[in-house]
Order: sequence, then structure tokens, then C-alpha cells
Amino acid sequence: MEAVVLRNIEKLYGGITACTDINLFINEGEFFTFLGPSGCGKTTILRLIAGFIQPGKGTIHLGGRNITHLEAEKRQVGMVFQNYALFPFMTVAENIEYGLKIQKRDKKERAERVEKFTEMVGLTGFEQRNIAELSGGEQQRVALARSLATEPKVLLLDEPLSNLDARLREKMRAEIKSLQKKLGVTTIFVTHDQTEALILSDRVAVFEKGRCIQIGTPQEIYLHPANSFVAGFIGDTNLFSAEIKNGKASISEKLSIDLDTDEAGRFVSIRPQDVFFTKAQDGRTNVFPGKVETIQFDGISVGYNIRVESIIFRLTLLNTCAFRHSITAGADVHISFDTKSIKILDC
Ligand SMILES: Nc1ncnc2c1ncn2[C@@H]1O[C@H](COP(=O)(O)OP(=O)(O)OP(=O)(O)O)[C@@H](O)[C@H]1O
Ligand SMILES: [Mg+2]
Repeated sequence: MEAVVLRNIEKLYGGITACTDINLFINEGEFFTFLGPSGCGKTTILRLIAGFIQPGKGTIHLGGRNITHLEAEKRQVGMVFQNYALFPFMTVAENIEYGLKIQKRDKKERAERVEKFTEMVGLTGFEQRNIAELSGGEQQRVALARSLATEPKVLLLDEPLSNLDARLREKMRAEIKSLQKKLGVTTIFVTHDQTEALILSDRVAVFEKGRCIQIGTPQEIYLHPANSFVAGFIGDTNLFSAEIKNGKASISEKLSIDLDTDEAGRFVSIRPQDVFFTKAQDGRTNVFPGKVETIQFDGISVGYNIRVESIIFRLTLLNTCAFRHSITAGADVHISFDTKSIKILDC
């Protein structure tokens, strides 16, 4: 069953379109992510679902019930804000208890639930601490516990990991995912970090300028991007505008790529891990001579920027012990890629 359904949602602020033509069908228990650059409307849609703002057009259903005009407190939606929005003068326990008081739960139940959710997020022993005495990661856990304690039907997480350092971010990412699976709560997670979206999500919706461009599993959006924006936003890629005809894609005056299809389009996309070094006389199609301009080493992989005529190709290799790379900046090389790794895009 669908837990959250948005039909034809639009929200304008004065003359600014924050989001438009939004149609989303989110399943019960799903981990669903909104992914897109700053200002594309992600927070606006969360706020519409939570009931903090009203749409100009469209309807919102929660568990089959039309909640478009229902007050926020009656929606059974929990939201964790980007800045956590904790009450700074309350203790950890008081923060977690807050939503339960609003729900008018009796004292005994409140105490039980505070204990349960404090433990669930690993903060037992921190109950009487003030918020100011907590690290960013601990505050994030309090915000999560405060939302979960109210037993929301839907959990909305607005970039909850963006204030954390890289290591803590990875840890909290794993914790949120396992907690979500354990509780089975339908979750909408907002991020502009594509890696986070790919790792965490059952499905991802990609947004651009207030519109939903594509919805799919992480694999679907990575392997079959709907357009050049999605191809460029989800993972690194070599994206070229091209004139495509007669089985060839011209990506510059002097550079033409052989295709194995008659498909029409305006862009070609080739992932850096699909480009490889080869020998000049390899006998393959799509072998190009070039010069290594820069090399980027990040431990796991080595990225090369290779100039071929006026075009820069990016090539990524895994840094395995079986293959230590001897190619240096300035080296003359040949690169190639299989026709099947070339993605043709319309727009
Ligand atoms: N209260 C408001 N009044 C006027 N314009 C607003 C308001 N809230 C949002 N907007 C505008 O609506 C658009 C979408 O904003 P929104 O906050 O939903 O983006 P976002 O995708 O969450 O961005 P970010 O990743 O930076 O948080 C932006 O152009 C923003 O300036
Ligand atoms: Mg936002």
C-alpha cells in the first residue's frame, strides 16, 4: 500500500515556483530519498507533507486519507530538521519527551518511551545532559529519537547528516538505515549528496528547479539517467553535447565517436570507470591519442584527466595492488571505451 501520495502538487512563493507538477507515490516502509541541488524544492515538499505550509494546487494523501488541509499536529508525521531544532534549554530526556506531551500521552507511557528511544539511539546515560553539552552527532540522535518516539506514520529527514564530519556521517548513515529497517517506518530523506542517496535508498527522486525529473532505484537512475542533468548529477561522468547521425557522435570539430546504435540524441555520457588506457594499435573502435593533464589520487582510485584534441576525458582506475599505476602527468597515452558503455541522451 502507498503510505504517501502527492498528486499534482504546486507551491509558489510570490512569483517564485518552489515546486510544481509533483506526483509521488511512496510505499509503506520505503526509504525514499529526495535528491537535488540547493533550491530545487526539497524542503518545500517536506514542509508540505508535514503540514507547515499549504500547497497552491494538488492533494496529499497519507495512508489513503486526504490530509491536504489537515493541521500539522494531526498528521502523525515526524520531521528531523537540518539544524535539528532541539530545545537548547531542555535536557535530552525533555527534548525526547516533548512530542509525547503534545500528544497528551500519560506520564508512565512518556517515561517508558523516553527510555526506549534514548536506548535505541545509543544515548542511555545522557538523559539529564543539556543539549549544549552534546556533540553534533549526539544532537542528531536526540532529534531522531524525538521524532521516532511519537510513532510517526512517516518520518521526514531534512539533510540530517550535513552538519557532521565525514566519519560520523558514515556512521550515522548506517545507524539511520538500520533503525529505519528495524522499525519499518516509511521514511523520506532529503539530501544533495548523491552517494548518500545511492547508499541509503530503496528509491530516489531526482529534482531540478522545482520539478521531479526521475524516480527510480539507485541502480536505475545511475545506469539509465533520464537526461543529461541526472547523468551529471548522479556520479561522475564524461558528458558531451554531440551531433549524432549515421552511427557517429561528433563531440567536437575533430573528434567523432563510433556508436553501435542509430539512436538519436543530443548528448553522450561515458562513465570514467568505463574509459581505459590502451595501445595505439589495438584494432578497437574508439581509440584516441591524448595527453595526461592531471592525476587525482584518493586512495581507493586514481582519476586521470586526459586531453584529446580540445576535449578532456576523465578516466578512473581502482588502485589495486595488482595494478600500481606508473602513468604520470604529461604522459602521451591512448584511451578507449566500448560502444556499449556510451549512453545517448535526448536533453
Ligand atoms: N518562505 C519562502 N519564501 C520565498 N521563497 C522561498 C521560501 N522558501 C523557499 N523559497 C524558495 O523556493 C525554492 C525552493 O526552496 P527549498 O527550500 O525547497 O529548496 P531546497 O531544495 O530545500 O534547497 P537546499 O538544498 O538549499 O535546502 C528556492 O528558490 C527558495 O528560494
Ligand atoms: Mg532544504
